[in-house]
Amino acid sequence: MRYSFNNVPSLRGTISVPGDKSISHRCILLGSLSKGITSVKGFLDSADCRSTISCMKKMGISIEQNESNVNIKGHGLRGLSAPTETLYTGNSGTTTRIMSGILCGQRFSCRVTGDESIEKRPMKRVIDPLSLMGASIRSEKDNGCAPLLIEGSDITGKSLHGINYTSPVASAQVKSAVLFAGMYADSPTTVTEPALSRDHTERMAAAFGATIKRDGLSVTIEPSPLLLATDVEVPGDISSAAYFIAAALIHKNAELYIKNVNINPTRAGILEVVKLMGGNIHYENKRICSGEEVCDLLIKSSDLHGCEISGAMIPTLIDEIPVIAVMAAAASGTTTIKDASELRVKESDRIASVCENLSALGADITPTEDGMIINGGQPLSGVRIHTYKDHRIAMSMAVASLLTGDEVTFDDPSCVDISYPTFFKTLNSVCEQ
Ligand code: S3P
Repeated sequence: MRYSFNNVPSLRGTISVPGDKSISHRCILLGSLSKGITSVKGFLDSADCRSTISCMKKMGISIEQNESNVNIKGHGLRGLSAPTETLYTGNSGTTTRIMSGILCGQRFSCRVTGDESIEKRPMKRVIDPLSLMGASIRSEKDNGCAPLLIEGSDITGKSLHGINYTSPVASAQVKSAVLFAGMYADSPTTVTEPALSRDHTERMAAAFGATIKRDGLSVTIEPSPLLLATDVEVPGDISSAAYFIAAALIHKNAELYIKNVNINPTRAGILEVVKLMGGNIHYENKRICSGEEVCDLLIKSSDLHGCEISGAMIPTLIDEIPVIAVMAAAASGTTTIKDASELRVKESDRIASVCENLSALGADITPTEDGMIINGGQPLSGVRIHTYKDHRIAMSMAVASLLTGDEVTFDDPSCVDISYPTFFKTLNSVCEQ
């Protein structure tokens, strides 16, 4: 398998990217809390989503998975059973945070933890609002990180209260944790964000029967919904498509067609950036798939120019910033990324890991407190990439290798399994050898 794509003569082909990671997690969670069998097609069969499946199975839910087809036999909102061991969430922040909201409403106590990276990521952002709801949730090491110890509201005897929470961060994981807990509360729960984060929980919870209403940056959920199993078709993940969008734009001889990409506006910030940078991209066959906007994308080689990325746009492209930095390194002029300090608390500190690797490759890139400044157009050459076991760093730097004259190597290319196990296979398939 080729991991470095230096000196590829052309990039051509038609591909589909795997199912959306955020939507795949939510299918498992909502399916487990619904009555009946939820059948999912297009599920993302990756390490992160398997972590969510494994946790729900440990709480008595029967889940049959055959690659991207999954059937979940839900037991209703109060149908989970006590796990006999720690719920292990692997590398998945989404599982850890959103599931915590659900666990606060149960009749049992449990312990939740994940890998080395998860044990360093901030959980206070969910501990705080869930505690305000009356939940018993704390960090075992009192450092605000996992392991988390959670006592369900039914055993503490204190039911959860609906709250009106203004979140200091635009985070869909925080918003979703509070909304899930809100299903177990005694009155409605409202979350207000500083900027709109991805809204898959809102869309999907409504499809499963929850009463949930948006009003600007606020969203309110009514307690005790009767959730009913609903079939879901998961569209392709724009965060995975982003690597191929960037690859085609920066390569001198490229034309790629990517089918079935989710372009939900709370996720599609990268498409705005492509427009700002002068990229050649066409949208075809716009349609709705399980309540999400979807289309096919045609992308061709482009002469990109730098731009500024900041403000409310940031949450709509937060996971794409590493590969946007690669686009910026290939572009003419300066790209400035601001208001993105959330990057510091992802699977790695992505401001540091992107800047370290792109500088090593020869790019002119400077980290700032809340982003980075990239002066594009420098020649790049091959080095060994330090992935920090961060899937998005590995994939972004594989795209950067299209710009190098010699080989790029990776300390751990297998970390792509977290969100896109077939990434290298697909990239090989569109590269003329
Ligand atoms: C996600 C939300 C985002 C994103 C992550 C997936 C989700 O995290 O970075 O990859 O599925 O809710 P934050 O909520 O921390 O912004």
